[in-house]
Order: sequence, then C-alpha cells, then structure tokens
Amino acid sequence: MENINWSDLTFGYMKTDYNVRSYYKNGQWSELEISDSENINLHIAATCLHYGQEAFEGLKAFKGKDGKVRIFRMHENALRMQASSRGILMAEFPVELFEKAVVEVVKRNLRFVPPYESGASLYIRPLLIGTSSQVGVSPSKEYLFIVFVTPVGPYFKTGFKPTPYAILRDYDRAAPQGTGTVKVGGNYAASLVAGEIAHQKGYSAVLYLDSKEKKYIDECGPANFFGIKNNTYITPESNSILPSITNKSLMTLASEIGMKVERRPIPVEELSTFEEAGACGTAAVISPVERIDDLDKNKSYIFSKDGSPGVLSEKLYNKLRAIQYGDEEDKHGWVTLIDFKVPA
Ligand code: PLP
Ligand code: COI
Repeated sequence: MENINWSDLTFGYMKTDYNVRSYYKNGQWSELEISDSENINLHIAATCLHYGQEAFEGLKAFKGKDGKVRIFRMHENALRMQASSRGILMAEFPVELFEKAVVEVVKRNLRFVPPYESGASLYIRPLLIGTSSQVGVSPSKEYLFIVFVTPVGPYFKTGFKPTPYAILRDYDRAAPQGTGTVKVGGNYAASLVAGEIAHQKGYSAVLYLDSKEKKYIDECGPANFFGIKNNTYITPESNSILPSITNKSLMTLASEIGMKVERRPIPVEELSTFEEAGACGTAAVISPVERIDDLDKNKSYIFSKDGSPGVLSEKLYNKLRAIQYGDEEDKHGWVTLIDFKVPA
C-alpha cells in the first residue's frame, strides 16, 4: 500500500478490499458471505430507511512492532450490538458469528492495517439494518449484518492535543428513557444540528447535559466524558449515555495505576474542580479537553492552559495504546491476536 500516507490519515472512509455480510431470514442468520462490493441492494420500504431500524458498532485493529495485528475487545462490541438490537427490536446477531466476521474482515484486508510507526489503526464498522418492507410502524422480519473496515487516523484533527467543547442546553441527544444507552443511528441524527453549531463555533464537539434537568454531565457527541481530580477518575453515571468500552477500559487502567475511580452523576458546577478532563471512545481514544464553554451561562471551565494534556490523562492514554499495539502485556484478555505475520 505504498500510495497511502499512513501518518496523515484522518478519520474518514477509504475503500478497502472486502466486507463481510450475513442475512437474517425465517428466523436464521446465514453463513458469512464475503463481498468486494461497497453497495447493497435494498427494498424501498425497508424499515431501516423509514423507521430507523439501524445499529452500528466501532472497534479497531492495531499492528504491533512484531507485525502482528490485534483487535481490541471485540467481545464487548458484540454484546453491545445485541443490546442495541433489543433496544429497537431487531434480530440479535450471535456473538460468536460477530467475532468470526470481525476476524474475517480484518484478515481479508490486512494490507490496510496501518504500520505500527504511523500511530494509525484499522477502524472496524459493524452495521445491522432492518431490510424487509413495512409501511406500518413495526419491526422488520429480515435483517442484514455487514462489517467493513477502513484505515483511520485521529478523530479530532489535532490527535492527542487538548481541544475545546461546548455546552448547549437547547439540544438533546437522547431522552432519559430513550435510546441513549444503545448505539443506534437515530441518536447520531439527533446530534447533527448541535454538532454542526459547535463545529462552526470552533469546538470539537458538544458536551451534552442530562436531557431532563440539564444539571448533570452526560457525554460528548461521539465519546464518553471523564474528569480527574485528587488522583480520582470520575465519569458520569446516566441512563442516557452509551456504555463506552474505552471508558470501561480506562476505569480498569486508572485503578491499576493507583487512582480512585468514581462512576456517578457529575453536576455541571463540579467541572470547575477538575484538574483534567477528557473525551474517550474508540474513535476519540482519549481526546483531552482544553476547556468547556458553557455558552448559555457565559462561563468557561479551563483544563489546559499551555496546550498540553494533563499528566494522568497522558499516562492513561499511553497505557491504553501500549496494550492495543502490543507494547504492554494484555493482562485482561482484551486483545484478539490475528495469528500470522503480515507481509511488509
Ligand atoms: N458515546 C457515544 C455516543 C459514542 O458514539 C461512542 C463511540 O462508540 C462512545 C461513547 C465511546 O464508546 P466506545 O469506547 O465503546 O467506542
Ligand atoms: C466510535 O468511537 O467507534 C464511534 O462510533 C464514534 C463515532 C465515529 C460515531
């Protein structure tokens, strides 16, 4: 892949060689199919098009110094996709078949896994849609699961550099008893307007507050939120945020390095007490927060004055990356090794 400038990759789509598919019909998932097409043939009345029966996942594969490719915590993504299916009444994709499909799609696209030195990775995007025709609002009888990959660089342009976030109270991402805890397309559609306003004002993303009271921190557009103070990693407990696998991993790593970990509601005003803050997710990894501007209250919370990430955020970032790239021992069984050397 001599014509890809791996170190300059952004978080975008690039055509790769193959994707993997499975079809649900008559109560059964098909064997995995390998496709080299980027297109699907879809009924005009498919439920994914009209009633939002769509869920997706995001995970990554990394090439180590040893040339081996590691997939991070795919079991968790398989389980979360099942939770998303339950959330919008879609057929659940079996965990084992999910893992098999992910390994298969990575193996079929090995030449797109960025080299270790680039710091880039292979983004894996599983997708599940309702495909049978319904005009009344009811769940599809048939489903299509697809997983494709694309090599990516940092989600936010600057990579591991602090950037600003905005609080905007006029927009909600998800309702308190709605679909915020599952990864369905509708949540992202609901976040586009506020996200665009934030981008136009120079912010990386919106920091959402809880939709009911606007009192507590929820999460960022595409990532969970954490704050750090007094050697404690603090992250929101909420019934409208996605349970981030990265956040779960960071909580484990934080306790390993001797930090306390708290998962609880975080009142907005508590932002003024944090020494560091970050957004975390598969795409975002850790994206340190430079400052949060509460645009409705004309108030700013500043976490980085000199453009550098906080010491503990950096420590956590390095630890997470070391496990993902195979530089550090995988004590928790988070990594699936693709067991052969990749051609140089
Ligand atoms: N929150 C939202 C809304 C997301 O879209 C994501 C990305 O998947 C996350 C949080 C982070 O989750 P994870 O760490 O599992 O990628
Ligand atoms: C991810 O981190 O995998 C995401 O899905 C975030 C965003 C690209 C939607």
